[in-house]
Amino acid sequence: MATSSYTPTPDHGAKTGVLAYLVTAAVVLLLMMVFGLLMRMEQAQFIAMGPIWFYELMTLHGAGMVGIAGISGAAIMWHFLRQYVDLSHGVLIANLVLFVAGVAMVMASVLLGNFYGGWTFLYPLPSQAMGMWSQGAAALFMGGMLVIGVGFLLLHLDIARAIVARYGNFARSLGWPQLFGHDDGKAPPPAVVASTMVAIINIVSLVVGASILTMMLVNLYFPGFAIDPLLAKGMIYLFGHVFINSTIYMAVIAVYEILPRYTQRPWKSNKVFLAAWTASTFMVLFIFPHHLLMDFAFPTWMLIMGQVIGYFSTFPILVVTAYGALTIVYRSGIRWDMASRLLFVSLLGWSAGVIPAFIDGTITVNYVMHNTMWVPGHFHTYLLLGMVAMVFGFMYYLGKPKQNSEDSLLDRAAFWGFTLGSLGFTISLLHSGMESVPRRYAVHLPQWVPYDRIGAVFAMLVLASALVFIVRFLARLGLSRRDYPRATLARSAAV
Ligand code: HEM
Repeated sequence: MATSSYTPTPDHGAKTGVLAYLVTAAVVLLLMMVFGLLMRMEQAQFIAMGPIWFYELMTLHGAGMVGIAGISGAAIMWHFLRQYVDLSHGVLIANLVLFVAGVAMVMASVLLGNFYGGWTFLYPLPSQAMGMWSQGAAALFMGGMLVIGVGFLLLHLDIARAIVARYGNFARSLGWPQLFGHDDGKAPPPAVVASTMVAIINIVSLVVGASILTMMLVNLYFPGFAIDPLLAKGMIYLFGHVFINSTIYMAVIAVYEILPRYTQRPWKSNKVFLAAWTASTFMVLFIFPHHLLMDFAFPTWMLIMGQVIGYFSTFPILVVTAYGALTIVYRSGIRWDMASRLLFVSLLGWSAGVIPAFIDGTITVNYVMHNTMWVPGHFHTYLLLGMVAMVFGFMYYLGKPKQNSEDSLLDRAAFWGFTLGSLGFTISLLHSGMESVPRRYAVHLPQWVPYDRIGAVFAMLVLASALVFIVRFLARLGLSRRDYPRATLARSAAV
């Protein structure tokens, strides 16, 4: 597979917009990690902030983490995609401005208006607060989410525009001529294929999300405008599930683009790769009912569809990515540094997190497991040790001082702290789930507390390690703008 003639397109330093995304993501991520730790410490009975604070922090943590996953994933996608298509820097900035405005609205609704209806704003909870929060607080929360969603919609529309301008249509940017016909070796690069998929699924998800938010805002002030609760639930889950899934599909572009620069081996868009991305483009839109398997009111055909598609959709991209990474790294002489380590371990986190999701996606298991800590256990595994690890890997890659510079002992310790801390934290959640500990409970029974305590200690390790990564990234911001070809990064000192 190795081809010494292969030269990936060099980078030209990160654009200001990309760095602004990463700085915003880093700051919000740290804050949300602190909120997550506080929630876990509350369950562990290390602190006693009370249920209202717990649910306020849970609402902020859920919305904030999903938001920064979207922002940092978009930064990675935009950074690499702009090598192939002509993207608008103005739209990139507009999305960030709307994001910050939306986050401010969401924070104000929770911290000043005491809204704690959860990031899933499930209808009719926001409007039926029974005096716990005001109509204005609910409107501010849903309005903030809408503003954030509109910003992302603009960004994805611009990405779709640029891809169509360069490739003519989505069929060509997904590589269908090579997939269904003769593979002439000229399929679009993985970054373009992945971005096409993300643009398609996110335009759908964001339009659906914005529609239900608008309907709920109207309903808030004009209750006569009735909404079918089942329809609302379906729309919210389609939006939420597709959006959070797409963050990994954006972040994985870092793996496709950076690992080849380290190994000097191409990441080819071959037929198997193209088939996996095309299959997932369609399946990911129909997989969300696997969150509703306990919902007897949903049509049975939708639940069966959720289970079957859940089985098939999970694997194609993960398998081609994990297999691809192993083949390009195997005997490549790669010189491991923080960026390549974090990107490689992210594939472990992603793969490991998918397994409990797969188990939970089976209807009979789901009846027992779904409302337990098993679910936060699985998504924290692939978001924290998968998606977020990809983002940290990208940050180290951008800020690497010299092609062959060594990582400090502190960085390496933080890598192990983050990996072991994330594993310990997520296993504590999964184990609680196995013991039927319910999710979203502020107060835990004494027999559940030992898992919470172990989880809280590991979460502290994650937070401390993330702090090292982020301080290092911020300290190297100047370097991230530098214009030097990273095509041969770390290769010259390969062992
Ligand atoms: C130090 C790292 C983290 C800690 C300590 C933490 C902690 C927690 C805790 C304690 C919960 C509530 C579990 C329950 O009782 O149901 C939770 C929920 C959640 N977390 Fe995290 N988390 C961390 C990182 C992340 C990351 C990186 C993401 C996503 C990128 C994330 C997304 C979520 C979401 C979406 C929820 C669900 C909120 C809800 O149920 O409404 N978390 N987290």
